[in-house]
Amino acid sequence: MSRKKILVTGGAGFIGGNFVQYMVDKYPQYDIYNLDLLTYAGDLTKHKHIETKDNYYFVKADIAERETIMALFEKEKFEYVVHFAAESHVDRSITDPGIFVQTNVLGTQILLDAARAVEVTKFVHVSTDEVYGELDFDPSTFFTEETPLQPNSPYSASKASSDLLVRAYHETYGLPVSITRCSNNYGPYHFPEKLIPLTISRVLNEQKVPVYGDGKNIRDWLHVNDHCAAINLVMHEGVNGEVYNVGGHNEKTNLEVVKTIIKTLGKSEELIEFVKDRLGHDKRYAIDPTKLENLGWKPTYTFETGIAQTIQWYLDNTEWWEQIISGDYQKYFDKQYTVNK
Ligand code: NAD
Ligand code: TYD
Repeated sequence: MSRKKILVTGGAGFIGGNFVQYMVDKYPQYDIYNLDLLTYAGDLTKHKHIETKDNYYFVKADIAERETIMALFEKEKFEYVVHFAAESHVDRSITDPGIFVQTNVLGTQILLDAARAVEVTKFVHVSTDEVYGELDFDPSTFFTEETPLQPNSPYSASKASSDLLVRAYHETYGLPVSITRCSNNYGPYHFPEKLIPLTISRVLNEQKVPVYGDGKNIRDWLHVNDHCAAINLVMHEGVNGEVYNVGGHNEKTNLEVVKTIIKTLGKSEELIEFVKDRLGHDKRYAIDPTKLENLGWKPTYTFETGIAQTIQWYLDNTEWWEQIISGDYQKYFDKQYTVNK
């Protein structure tokens, strides 16, 4: 098989980081370039074991810096782009929406221009089910690829905007794109500002776990390894111009998630603390993944097997998340949850 040059943006983050490792290990014959700005969410220590591999490269750059990105594409002539880089946390988008527009919208548009200039073979845009807005609690309703876009948070609005630009570059210029829209991910290297790693790290430290509102909001959880396999499939076999929803029918209320973690770690439910609800808090997300299953994907984890593996990973890798929560993270946490109370 010929060598392929693949640019992964946001490869120092949670999902992009798992995807970089998945691709470096699975395809020694591909060259994997990890481009990342190393914001608060980016961390390269997770890649220590692949840094010396011949097929892994790191580039520190901002996707929203046009000249840098255009020059890099001209030099490297990437064939594939898998675009994860983004501001990704809903709570941060509520307090500071501007950077979400800058990175998620403008950054994506610059990447699209660069991909067009070198005539890439495929541009995979990693998006989210949050662009569809929210579902009510009727368990027979799901997001399909035809569900209208109705984003409710500045984060999801910025992702929906980037999706529309990606679509437009396909329709207008014939750029070979595919868009994936995934449900909530969890697994190793998940930054502890998000519900699952936040709960695990705080329960392990015997600290209160903040649950927004009544804890009855529902998310559809997908293990990050299953997401990586889905993106790999779409990169190789996704039809140009098409959208693929990614999810494994693992709906849980937030309270169920938190209680499962507390029980697995043998701690008390008294650690749960109900706090003021998130503004514009979406009630429920749930994915119909039929289209991607027809392309040949199926998840390998249930929520039960995935959460057990994830909790064990956090127990085995305390030094990774402890270094994160000991820095600026603590300032973020104090600000975020003081405001909420
Ligand atoms: P993350 O916040 O963990 O990582 C984002 C990465 O992007 C970080 O390494 C950060 O340094 C980098 N980055 C940010 N701004 C940048 C810029 N201007 N230039 C270059 N790099 C920059 O995010 P994640 O959870 O891994 O999410 C990755 C993608 O998947 C995002 O596009 C997100 O919208 C999407 N997604 C996430 C989930 C989820 O549950 N986490 C679900 C569906 C879709
Ligand atoms: P999160 O992990 O931030 O992902 P998203 O907002 O993209 O779904 O939140 C998952 C759910 O958990 C969401 O309904 C909000 C809720 N939540 C809490 O109850 N407490 C918290 O401290 C956090 C971060 C989230």
